[in-house]
Amino acid sequence: MRRPFARAWTGALAAVAAAAALPLASPVPAAADSVVIGGRPVEVSDSPWTVALSSRDRFGGTRAGQFCGGVVVSPTTVLTAAHCMSEDVLGVPLGEVSDLKVIASRGDLRETDGKEIPVRDAWVNPEYDGYTNSGDVAALTLSEPLPEGYVIPMAGEGDPAYEAGTGAAVYGWGDTTGAGNYAHSLRSARVKVLPDAVCERAYPGSADGKYVAETMLCAGEMDGRRDACQGDSGGPLVAHGRLIGLVSWGSGCGRAGSPGVYTRISDVARVMRAYS
Ligand code: ARG
Repeated sequence: MRRPFARAWTGALAAVAAAAALPLASPVPAAADSVVIGGRPVEVSDSPWTVALSSRDRFGGTRAGQFCGGVVVSPTTVLTAAHCMSEDVLGVPLGEVSDLKVIASRGDLRETDGKEIPVRDAWVNPEYDGYTNSGDVAALTLSEPLPEGYVIPMAGEGDPAYEAGTGAAVYGWGDTTGAGNYAHSLRSARVKVLPDAVCERAYPGSADGKYVAETMLCAGEMDGRRDACQGDSGGPLVAHGRLIGLVSWGSGCGRAGSPGVYTRISDVARVMRAYS
């Protein structure tokens, strides 16, 4: 079978589109204030919406097969980056990955706590553009639900959390140095939402991608230092207790003048409404 993921995704998309329409859903634990480059270790229980994507077949067992991050946006729906589902990342077409799982409630990938839940279905944004990296989102449907308390609300269009200068936190198990040092335990780094103009200047279009303000969000520090990195993709950028971005791309990690680029969550809601 080419695609073990059946086409039952419309339910998940409808759930996400509905959740996005809610102004301020369930209260979530205060975002940890400070991933990643320039980050610090955090407890996964303080950010239960942060999950690891795993395939031991593709990535080996030492770090539980972790290769990307994800975010719980409904009990059975995890958002991640579209590029995480690509053949470039997986090494084979998505349909040939038979052990794709979401790992929830496990901060340390060497432990066995928390839950490993098989992915029943994967929807990859048909608008994803591998040249610009625009529309970098996929929605995974879990084979069994996570508790409601794991869900983080998505910030809708016009939410002040998107304003430049807003303090945000990014979470992940990715590279902590830019040299391939992948974390065993969950980390978080504090970053700021930056003006679109900063990323438009930094990324006018190259092999790395092109900044498109409608679908992307720019965040980091003007002098670099704190950032997401390889392996963090698909993971959450959170501000005011709401999801505003998914780790997508950047040029290097934590470099001055090359901020992190995130998938803009308000545009994800639009895409999901369009395809559900
Ligand atoms: N594309 C990377 C991944 O697959 C994420 C890169 C984020 N880079 C950055 N400088 N913020 O994990």
